Amino acid sequence: MKRIFLALLFVSGSMVINGQSAFREKYRPQIHFSPRGNWMNDPNGMVFYKGVYHLFFQYYPDSTVWGPMHWGHATSKDLVHWREQPIALYPDSLGYIFSGSAVVDKNNTSLLGKNGRVPLVAAFTHHNIKMERAGNKNFQYQSLAYSLDDGKSWIKYANNPVLKNPGITDFRDPKIMWYEADRKWIMTLATKDRVTFYTSKNLKDWTKQSEFGESLGAHGGVWECPDLFSIDYKGKTIWVLLVSINPGGPNGGSATQYFTGNFDGQFFKPFQTDTRWLDYGTDNYAGVTWSNTGRRKIFIGWMSNWQYANIVPTQKWRSATTLPRELTIQKIGESYFVSSLPVKELDILNKDTKVITMHAPVKDITLSEGPGKIELSSGKAESFSFTFSNRSGEMVIAGYDQGSNEYYIDRTRSGKTDFESKFAARHTAPRIGNSTGLNMTLITDEASIEMFADNGLTVMTDIFFPATPYGNVQFKCGENFSLKKLAYTSLKSIWRQ
Ligand code: FRU
Repeated sequence: MKRIFLALLFVSGSMVINGQSAFREKYRPQIHFSPRGNWMNDPNGMVFYKGVYHLFFQYYPDSTVWGPMHWGHATSKDLVHWREQPIALYPDSLGYIFSGSAVVDKNNTSLLGKNGRVPLVAAFTHHNIKMERAGNKNFQYQSLAYSLDDGKSWIKYANNPVLKNPGITDFRDPKIMWYEADRKWIMTLATKDRVTFYTSKNLKDWTKQSEFGESLGAHGGVWECPDLFSIDYKGKTIWVLLVSINPGGPNGGSATQYFTGNFDGQFFKPFQTDTRWLDYGTDNYAGVTWSNTGRRKIFIGWMSNWQYANIVPTQKWRSATTLPRELTIQKIGESYFVSSLPVKELDILNKDTKVITMHAPVKDITLSEGPGKIELSSGKAESFSFTFSNRSGEMVIAGYDQGSNEYYIDRTRSGKTDFESKFAARHTAPRIGNSTGLNMTLITDEASIEMFADNGLTVMTDIFFPATPYGNVQFKCGENFSLKKLAYTSLKSIWRQ
């Protein structure tokens, strides 16, 4: 085994946001969005409008554990630097504000636009806790809110709900898209163990069209947060349906599966019968895509897992989002796969890049502190690993095992793990790509690692909680490893100004 040591030097720095020092707490992500304080879960209502990416999120402003849901709000001009905004939606007499989506109603089909102002329309689930406690099954229903000031403030629609519950206990997370061929809106809704599609001409009156998935895909838990969209693959339109499930993920707890297929405005017809996961790690859940981004499909997920989200050892806030990722299609044989890669906008965080060559042995490379990116490619699919460690002997290992043809992230000895019995574990993912060589990008932050292998065909996201950030990276591989590229780029914090 050859070993390359990359020693990281820690530079202390403080940061000031809106006149306040913040975002330097233990475990605080430096390149991911997290709320300044309190509880966050799913990303919601993501819409791009007038040069601004809006990110709403399930938020409980009064505690660091899940509670009565609001929609928190953050905005960004570049998908990298985020500014938290005032809460967009508060719970009301109809219920908590559960997950949903937002669209730009350019043609004012909803007639919610006034004086020529284009309405942004959000659809969300009202979760009526009183009805739930009373044993009523119909406690989730779909409602609207709209904005007439480009997403800054939101008004609840006066005649909510717009879609009543037909007697299904899990009836939530509406994702809305415009279907140009029929000039109508599609609502993709999670309905217990399947997805139900509804259509509308005005966003207010919805008609059921079809159901999908009762006997397809993974069913280890309830279906949540679906997303239907199309991606152009060499001139062919491929439809993608994302479905999050909890529990039942490939490495335990919550995870997001996807289907590829055709959609005709009424029915989704899958191409595949096997189960595929958008991310095989344990910490990418309930993710969906931005609306109004043209042909680009930009995804972001919640970087946690219901198995332990409420008890992870952060103090002031709980949870962060994943890095934003661009989704594209790759074809292998006759099959279409979805691949995810970090959006190219993140390159503005690149600081120094060190290129490492095996033939000119490198020891003790001094790099800056904080987040970083490793890029590796090899001429053959041979075993290798990266061990990220700190002085306390805590470590996370990420790599590829040729024997099992699997990628893995091992957080067994990653630091604080005793808050949940299954947290300390080694997670695996199949290698989907079949090219002779392989490639991998690993992006690490204070408390997370994101792995994109084979141009994003196999993805893993895991969180961890070391006593101090990992300061060393050790690369291990066989004597004759067919290295093509190995580079380490240190990344700037998004919070430091
Ligand atoms: C997914 C989810 C959604 C629901 C929301 C509640 O994580 O359970 O189905 O709308 O979280 O916070």
